[in-house]
Amino acid sequence: MRLSEFSNTAIPKIEAEMKDILLSAKQAHDTSLYDMLSYHLGWSGEAVSRQSQGKRIRPLFLLLTTGAAGGDWETSVSAAATIELIHNFSLIHDDIEDNSEERRGRKTLWVRDSMPLALNAGDALFSISFLGLARLEKFHPNQTIVTAYSLIAETCLTLTQGQHMDISFENADNVTVDQYLEMISGKTGALLAASTELGAILAGVNPEVRQHYKSAGLNLGLAFQVVDDILGIWGDPQKTGKSASSDLLSRKKSLPILFGLSRSGKFSELWDQEITPSNVHILAGQLKIEGAYDYAKTIARQYTQTALDAIENANPGGIYAEAFDELVRSLTQRDY
Ligand code: IPE
Ligand code: IPE
Ligand code: MG
Ligand code: MG
Repeated sequence: MRLSEFSNTAIPKIEAEMKDILLSAKQAHDTSLYDMLSYHLGWSGEAVSRQSQGKRIRPLFLLLTTGAAGGDWETSVSAAATIELIHNFSLIHDDIEDNSEERRGRKTLWVRDSMPLALNAGDALFSISFLGLARLEKFHPNQTIVTAYSLIAETCLTLTQGQHMDISFENADNVTVDQYLEMISGKTGALLAASTELGAILAGVNPEVRQHYKSAGLNLGLAFQVVDDILGIWGDPQKTGKSASSDLLSRKKSLPILFGLSRSGKFSELWDQEITPSNVHILAGQLKIEGAYDYAKTIARQYTQTALDAIENANPGGIYAEAFDELVRSLTQRDY
């Protein structure tokens, strides 16, 4: 089955499940809080479009893993919805932490509604996400659900440890590539790894196959984040839905920037001076000249290959293997 065919069937089910989880948690008095979450998830408010909901890659991965690992993906939809809600809680807080004003082509929640309200809405979404896992009881035994709960809680902790490193690096000198890799394994790798691992758990695979799917998700997450770093400097804001060059302006130690700093050339000199919206394109251009773009592309390809090797070991089969493979390959070729 092609990815587009699978997405056309699965995405409406993921959206419906997320809405249902949110509505079941909604209290009579919290209309305004619900409205904030609904805005962030791309369902309502100004400028709703396909882009405003994001790519939904984590839930698609989870469902395709269940299918390709021999399970029935329709029994994993609550887990897929949970993963996407967790991702969105992390984005609400990330946009505050990164001082980002645009996401998915719209105002970020904190810009729209205020920072205190957005912090609180992120906390609400974090809590609501966990309620989604209880809904797995329709199809899965309690023991599996306990495993899912602890996997997701540990994943959130690893994610916040990664975010902690990312934020701390903004003011640190001499961040190494190894430290960077540990940071992105946390902030991005952990949730992608949890998506494929949980999808495999719900298919009832053995521990060895579960490990291969987890490794596939982790390495895809690393490749995905390196591509995000590339887009964070040279991406087209129309396509990414995020403001241009924001990683340079906020002095993020993303991979291309670490590469540029390690050259100690013209880019390094420019980095030591003030970076403003009017000179940021000069830094981005210089960084490309010094080879940071090609370097980051190569690293992304390497992690994709490691992920593909893990997938081969997991030996996906059946009618979903093709869509799974297509999703993997589309991630690193994306420009949005
Ligand atoms: C953005 O993730 C944050 C990162 C981990 C790079 P996505 O690029 O998956 O965001 P959406 O959900 O599609 O907007
Ligand atoms: C990605 O953060 C990880 C999380 C949100 C947990 P980034 O800050 O790198 O991603 P974008 O570029 O804002 O989407
Ligand atoms: Mg960010
Ligand atoms: Mg961030």
